[in-house]
Amino acid sequence: MNGLSDLFASAKGCGEDTSASEGVAGKHVAWCVRAVTNLLVEHIGRLVSMDDHRTTLVDAAIWIEKGVVAWMGKQSQIPDACQNAECDRIHARGQLVTPGLVDCHTHVVFGGDRRDEFRLRATGASYEDIAAAGGGIRSTMALTRGATIEELSLSALGRLKEMHARGVTSVEIKTGYGLSLESELKMLEVIRFLQGTQPMRLLATFLGAHTVPPEFDDMHEYARYVCSEMLPAVAKQGVAQFCDVFCERNVFDVDASRQVLEAGLSLGLRPKVHAEQLSWQGGTQLGVSLGAVSVDHLEYITDTDIELLANGDTVAVVLPGAAVTLNVERHAPARRLLDAGARVAIATDCNPGSSMCVDLRLMTTLATTLMGMTPDEAFAGVTCHAANALGRDDIGRLRVGAAGDLVIWRTDHEHNIPYRYGAVEPDYVIVGGVRS
Ligand code: NIG
Ligand code: FE
Repeated sequence: MNGLSDLFASAKGCGEDTSASEGVAGKHVAWCVRAVTNLLVEHIGRLVSMDDHRTTLVDAAIWIEKGVVAWMGKQSQIPDACQNAECDRIHARGQLVTPGLVDCHTHVVFGGDRRDEFRLRATGASYEDIAAAGGGIRSTMALTRGATIEELSLSALGRLKEMHARGVTSVEIKTGYGLSLESELKMLEVIRFLQGTQPMRLLATFLGAHTVPPEFDDMHEYARYVCSEMLPAVAKQGVAQFCDVFCERNVFDVDASRQVLEAGLSLGLRPKVHAEQLSWQGGTQLGVSLGAVSVDHLEYITDTDIELLANGDTVAVVLPGAAVTLNVERHAPARRLLDAGARVAIATDCNPGSSMCVDLRLMTTLATTLMGMTPDEAFAGVTCHAANALGRDDIGRLRVGAAGDLVIWRTDHEHNIPYRYGAVEPDYVIVGGVRS
C-alpha cells in the first residue's frame, strides 16, 4: 500500500524543510513535522485568550518561543527583541486568533464504517436494537480486529487531517474496538504511530471496557479479564494516560465499571466515564467518587449528579453529535450544569456508530441551539474546558507559558464559529509555534 505517502504528499503546507520520520512498513512518512523555530503573529484584529481572565486584545500580536507563548500584547508594543528576531512571521490581516481547539472525546481509530446502521436508524431501528442484533460496537470490533496497523493508521490519519483543517490542535483518542489484549494493544500502537506522524497533540485513553466481546459470557467475567490481563499490559506499553468505561444498561454496570476504573487508577491511568448516555446507571457518581478527570455524555443525569459535578473537579463533557445522530429526544442538561457551576466541555465523539463527525466547530452550534449554552460558554467548551477534561492547563488557552497552539480564523469574532455553522475556516493552524 502506498496510500500513506499519497496522504502526506497532499498534506497542506508541507515544504522542503519537512523532516521525514521512519513510518509504517519502513516507509518515510511525515505530515509537516518541521524544525522548531520562533514565531511572531502580527496584526491580529482580535486575540481571544480563553485564560482565567478571558483576556481579549484588539490590534494584537503574539510571540511563540521554542513552542511556548512567551509574549502577547498590543501590536504597537511588540518588544524589540521579537521585532528584530530571526523567526517565522505571519501577518494575520486583522483576523481572529484563538487557542487551537481541543477535541477531548473521540474514537477516531477504527476499521470499516457503519453506514448501513445509519440507514437502518433512518427507518426506525434504535442504537440499542442494532447492538442487541449483533451490530454496533461489536461490528466495528470485528472490522478493527481484521485490519492491519497500516490500514487503521491510514483511515485515522484521514480523519485527523480533516479535524486539523477545522481548527483542532489536540485530540483525545480512545481504544475500545479491539476488545482483546492483542487488538487493544494494536490500537494503542496505531495511536503511538499517529503521535509521531502528524502535527496535533494526541492523548490516548484505554477503553477496553467498551462492550463485552463475543468470547465472554458476561460483563463481570470480561471486566476481570480487562483488570488482570489487559490493564497491566496497557500500562506497561505506556501509550495510554486515561482509562474509560461504557457504564450503561446491558453493557457494564457500576460494579464492573468501578472494578475496571480502580484497576486502571492503581496503574496510573486517570479515570473517565461514558456515563448516563441512554439510561441512568450511576456512572457520574462513580466517576466523581474516583476523581475522574471527566464524565461524558450525561443525557440522563439527575439533580444530585449536577450538584456533584458543580462541587467537584470532574469536567462534564457533552457530546451533542451523538444525540443528534441517534435522534434521541433527550440532550445533556448543559444549561443546568453551567448554572449550578460545573465546567462543561464539548467534543465530537467522532466514531463510526453514534457520531461520524470530525467538525468540532459544528458541535459549538449544536451545544448553543440544543443545549442552551451561550456562544462564549460553547467556545470555552472546545478550548479551556476541553483541555481540563484532559487534565491539561497548558493547552486550550493562550497565556505566557502555555503551548503555542493557535488558530488564525477567516473571521473577526469567535461567535461566528457557532453562528455561521461549518463556514468559518482557519487561515492557519499552528501547533507548538509551527504552522502546517
Ligand atoms: O461514545 N457510547 C459508547 N461509545 C461510543 C459509540 C461507539 C460506537 O457506537 O461505535 C459513544 O457514543
Ligand atoms: Fe464515546
